[in-house]
Amino acid sequence: MNEKKEKQLSFKDKLKEILSEEELKKVKTAFDVIGDIAILEIDDELRNKEEKIAKILLSCHKNINTVVRKDSEHKGKYRRQKMKYLAGIDKKETLHKENNTWLYVNVEDVYYSPRLANERKRIINQVKKDENVLVMFSGLGPYTTQISKNTNAKRIVGIEINPKGHKLSILNTKKNKLKNVELYNGDVNKILPKLIKKPIIGLKAGYQKNHLNAKFKNTKTDILEIYLSKGDLENDYDNFVESLKELKKKIKHIIIHSPYFYKGYEVCPSCGIKEIEKTTKECFDLLEKTCKKLDLFGFVAHPYTSPDSNKKRKFNGKEYGYKKIYFEKFFSKNKYQYLMIENLIFYFFSKVSNMINLTKKYNLKFCLDLAHLYGSSKTEEEFYDKFMKLSKITNYYHIADAKYLNIPYNKLKTEHSFEVGKGNINFNKLIPFIDIGICEVTNKDELNPIEMLSSYEKLNKIETKFDRILMPLPKSAEDFLELALDSSKKGTIIHFYDFLHEDEFDLAKDKIKKACDKKKLKFKILDLVKCGQHSPRTYRICVDFMII
Ligand SMILES: C[S@@+](CC[C@H](N)C(=O)[O-])C[C@H]1O[C@@H](n2cnc3c(N)ncnc32)[C@H](O)[C@@H]1O
Repeated sequence: MNEKKEKQLSFKDKLKEILSEEELKKVKTAFDVIGDIAILEIDDELRNKEEKIAKILLSCHKNINTVVRKDSEHKGKYRRQKMKYLAGIDKKETLHKENNTWLYVNVEDVYYSPRLANERKRIINQVKKDENVLVMFSGLGPYTTQISKNTNAKRIVGIEINPKGHKLSILNTKKNKLKNVELYNGDVNKILPKLIKKPIIGLKAGYQKNHLNAKFKNTKTDILEIYLSKGDLENDYDNFVESLKELKKKIKHIIIHSPYFYKGYEVCPSCGIKEIEKTTKECFDLLEKTCKKLDLFGFVAHPYTSPDSNKKRKFNGKEYGYKKIYFEKFFSKNKYQYLMIENLIFYFFSKVSNMINLTKKYNLKFCLDLAHLYGSSKTEEEFYDKFMKLSKITNYYHIADAKYLNIPYNKLKTEHSFEVGKGNINFNKLIPFIDIGICEVTNKDELNPIEMLSSYEKLNKIETKFDRILMPLPKSAEDFLELALDSSKKGTIIHFYDFLHEDEFDLAKDKIKKACDKKKLKFKILDLVKCGQHSPRTYRICVDFMII
C-alpha cells in the first residue's frame, strides 16, 4: 500500500489489521481531542493491545501528537480523572481552542471536558452588557475566559478550590489578554461570603464645627477619622475632647489621626533623637489615654512624618533620617494598645516584610493606606500582591485611588492620592478584603471635600451581589444553592447543573424550590436543558432560574 493511500484509511479500517471481528466490536472509535492530545476509552479486554491501538490512532491524525487512555472516573474533591500515557509524546498538558479562546489544559490535574463547549456557548449567548458574573467552580477557566472574551460583561469572578486549576485559569486569562476576570483559589464556602459582604467605609474630618458641618450636611457615616493639625493637641485639647464626646453619641467608630508635629517637634518614633522621641512619646501617650477614656477605635500614626513637605529634616542645625533600628528601640520601650501604625511610600515602612515583622514583633496594629501602597509598588501586579499579603495584618484602611506607580518625589505632594475612580486601582478586587476604613480627603480644600464625598458614595454603591451565577458542579451543586442565593439579588439568573435520569429531571427543580423556600425567595424557572449524557438515560442537565 502506498503512503498516501495508507493515510486515507480510517482509524477503524486500520484497526482491522490488528484486531479480530469480536475485538473490533468492543473498540470505542469515538474519542475526545483536547489540543493535540487524544483521549481514548479502552475496554479491559483490549488492554493488551492498547498501545498498538493508540499508535494506529496517531498514524491516522497528523494533528494528534499524544494518545492517552482514561484510567479512572472523575473523582475526589477536584473531580480529576487519571490518564494513562499510550503513544506519541509523553505529556499531559496542551493548548486547546474553544469558543474563540485559547486554553492551557492539563488533562489529568484539572477537570476539563471539551464536550461542554456547546453548553458554554449557550451561556455566553445569554450574558448581557455590564453583568457581574460569578462562576462558582471555575476549574481551569473555560467559562470565565469565554464569557470575558465573547460578551460585554462588566466583571467575571471565578472561584476554584484546586490550586493547579486556579494556576491554569490565571495563565488562560493572561493568554487571552483579558482584563475583567477576577480569580480566587479556595473553597467557595470560605471565599464567597467575603466577596458579598459590604465593608464599613467612612469619612475623615477635622474636629472643629466648620469641618464637621462641611462633611456631614448630607452624609451619615458609621465611622469617622478625626485629624489633628499642628498645635491642636497642645492648645485645644479640651475642645477636641468635647467634640469627640459629642461625635461618639452619633458615630459608632471614631479614629484619631496623630498630628505630624507636637510641641514644635516632628512626631517620629524612628529618628533616634532623644528630644524628638520624648515629645513623640508624650503625644502617643495622650492619644492612647484619650482613646481608652472615650472608647475610641484607635489612633493612626506614621513611623516617621511623611517627608513630602521637607525632604531633609534638621534638629539643632543637623540633618537626621529615619531608621528601623530606632523604631525598634522606641517600641521595645513603649507599648500602645490603640496605636495603628501606617505604611508610607518610602523607607522601611514601605516594605511588606518590615510591616509584617515589625507589627508582629511589637504587637502593633496596622493601618494600610492604599495610595501609599500603590505609590511604593513598581507594577500593578506587585500592588495587588502586596495588598493581599498585608490585608491579613491590617486592622483599618485609608482609602484613595492612585495613578503613579513607583511615585517620584516631585509628584508626592499633589499627586499621590486621587478620588476613587480617577486613578488606576480596581476597588472591586480590594473591597472583599476590606472590613473597615475611611476615604481620604484628596483635595486641598478640606472644608469643601467634594472628592472625598464622591469616593464615599462610589464605594458604598459598589454592587457585591451578582447578576448571573454559574454552578457547574453536578452531583453536589445542591449543597451550594443557599450560598448562591445569598450572593444573588432580584433579577439574578442562576444556572444550576445536575446529573439526573431522564425520568427524574423534576428533582432538580425540587432542589431549587427547597433552597429558595428556606431563604424565603421567589423564583421562576426559565429553562431546563440537556447538556451531555452521563450514562444510559442519565444526563447532565442545566436548570436556568431567576430570582424574582
Ligand atoms: C465539574 S468541574 C467544572 C470545572 C469548570 N467549570 C469546567 O467547566 O471545566 C468542578 C470544579 O469545582 C471545583 N470545586 C469542587 N468543590 C469546590 C469548592 N467547594 N469550592 C471551589 N471549587 C470547588 C473542583 O476542583 C472542579 O475543578
